[in-house]
Amino acid sequence: MYVSLEPCAHYGKTPPCALRLVAEKVKKVVIVNVDPFAAVGGKGIEILLQGGIDVLSGILEHEGAWLNRRFFSFHTRRRPYIILKWAQTPEGHIAPLDKRRYPITNKASMQLVHKWRTEEAAIMVGYHTAMNDDPQLTARLWQGRQPLRIVLDKGLQLPATHNVFDKTTGTWIINERKEAVESNISWKQMLFDDRLLDTLLAALYGENKLSLIVEGGAVLLNSFIEKGLWDEARIFTGKASLAEGIKAPVLTHAIPAFETVIDGDLLHVYTNKNNPYAYVQGMEL
Ligand SMILES: NC(=O)c1ccc[n+]([C@@H]2O[C@H](COP(=O)([O-])OP(=O)(O)OC[C@H]3O[C@@H](n4cnc5c(N)ncnc54)[C@H](OP(=O)(O)O)[C@@H]3O)[C@@H](O)[C@H]2O)c1
Repeated sequence: MYVSLEPCAHYGKTPPCALRLVAEKVKKVVIVNVDPFAAVGGKGIEILLQGGIDVLSGILEHEGAWLNRRFFSFHTRRRPYIILKWAQTPEGHIAPLDKRRYPITNKASMQLVHKWRTEEAAIMVGYHTAMNDDPQLTARLWQGRQPLRIVLDKGLQLPATHNVFDKTTGTWIINERKEAVESNISWKQMLFDDRLLDTLLAALYGENKLSLIVEGGAVLLNSFIEKGLWDEARIFTGKASLAEGIKAPVLTHAIPAFETVIDGDLLHVYTNKNNPYAYVQGMEL
């Protein structure tokens, strides 16, 4: 049997996988990464060896770490893996100056973004984006799990008729005034000070959310960048033009991973140089 991660040795959502492999009399297990999670960390391999299974571990470790990066980040850094995503015009603008909704990418790119949404545990936007664009923040052009929606609304000013209140999926309204749960909407009261993002990430960690995709706008993305709180950035450059506009965020400590063309749009992917789980050429996102 080939596995990307060491079979577990503890009772979590499921019983220990390692015991099951012994019970099934599997002859050999090839393991890519040893589990960094304290409850497993080498113990799964121990069970396999004691059960008489031949074990080969630590092959293609970098490729495996890239595959397992959300899970590893979560356990070793005690926060979700953070992906920044935005679309910019060829001039480097993400929206017109009057902040009206302005599509920049094509249908294929949008579909890819919806696929990405199904792959992450949570999705977040800033107050102005939620207010002006009224996004649904769901995956509709791709089938899969819906991420937890998170919006910043310090003074509870978003109209109740806005899409994030449609109760179709779990939603956190981060604000300074109200702590409440109604259907699948949670109002989370947090102080909007310099530690807001840390407080939010700790809350997501507490809820076992492995990853977060941040979809704008510029103020929110820049605040993640300024604090070095990002692991990966996925930036589209579309064909729609804006001579003037809100400037796209500028990444610091970014290492180019790869670039590709999505039906005419350019997609650049970067990783943070402090992300311990580096991109390996040829791997997919
Ligand atoms: N092209 C793209 O990829 C893309 C994506 C998303 C949005 N957009 C566009 O971007 C425009 C809005 O962008 P924007 O930069 O003006 O606004 P934004 O980032 O959506 O929202 C900014 C507001 O959110 C709150 N906020 C953000 N980060 C915070 C932090 N770290 N701590 C506390 N509060 C924080 C603040 O609200 P308070 O002022 O209430 O404190 C801040 O004024 C819209 O026109 C939208 O269409 C483009």
